[in-house]
Amino acid sequence: MQIVILNNPADVAAYGAEIFKQQIRRKPKSVLGLATGSTPVALYNHLIDANQSGELSFKAAATFNLDEYLGLAGAHPQSYRYFMDTALFNHIDIDKSQTAVPQGNAQNPLQACRDYEAQIKAKGGIDLQLLGIGRNGHIGFNEPSSGLQSRTRVKALTPATIADNARFFADGEYQPRLSITMGIGTILEAKKILLLATGASKAEAIQATVEGPLSAACPASALQMHQDAVIVVDEAAAATLANKEFYKHVEAENQKLLAQFSLE
Ligand code: F6R
Repeated sequence: MQIVILNNPADVAAYGAEIFKQQIRRKPKSVLGLATGSTPVALYNHLIDANQSGELSFKAAATFNLDEYLGLAGAHPQSYRYFMDTALFNHIDIDKSQTAVPQGNAQNPLQACRDYEAQIKAKGGIDLQLLGIGRNGHIGFNEPSSGLQSRTRVKALTPATIADNARFFADGEYQPRLSITMGIGTILEAKKILLLATGASKAEAIQATVEGPLSAACPASALQMHQDAVIVVDEAAAATLANKEFYKHVEAENQKLLAQFSLE
């Protein structure tokens, strides 16, 4: 894992956006794995700016989102499909038919999960997967106790996640308790993984992800098994890392090395 510690959430978003831009420039037909929630919004805004200024095109790209609430149709304002349309897809030149979000209102959710896996495979797998992280260490909606080799499936949300996400729902509005989520095994098959986390509320989860044992108790710790996972955090989210200074030093060295290679 590469741990990148930056000053603030704006720097985290800009750094993450740069990784996405490089990926799309290198391979316009990239298959991108995307996330919802608060964390990726600023990164998406960078991508929108880059697209609208003509710097970057998504015309050849395809996307797969991590998860969706079970029971919500894509037109529902709290659905993750709706979120993606309004936060990103409606503002860039991507072909909407190439944007996939698990089908929250599927007649047969189990079949929808199998179909989602098959769709990802048919596209040749995910090139770059974006992740946020829950305070309990979840990635996608892989809550603690998720199998580290799990595939796309229906997963119950923990009370903690339901409480965290209640902010997106109006008082009295129906809030789903179940989701369809890519599995941890599905996520680990992405060629590159980029996890972003900002704020003190994520510090404990980041510490468990980076320095804790590999454990279903912290699903994000499974990234320790990946060959190309980049964890980008701000100072607040990095606050409890025991080896913080080492990561900062390594990162600085890496940057110098990478700069040399890019001159070649
Ligand atoms: C969203 C998702 C979740 C979020 C996580 C953090 O698609 O898969 O794992 O990334 O709950 O959410 P925020 O960014 O709102 O703190």
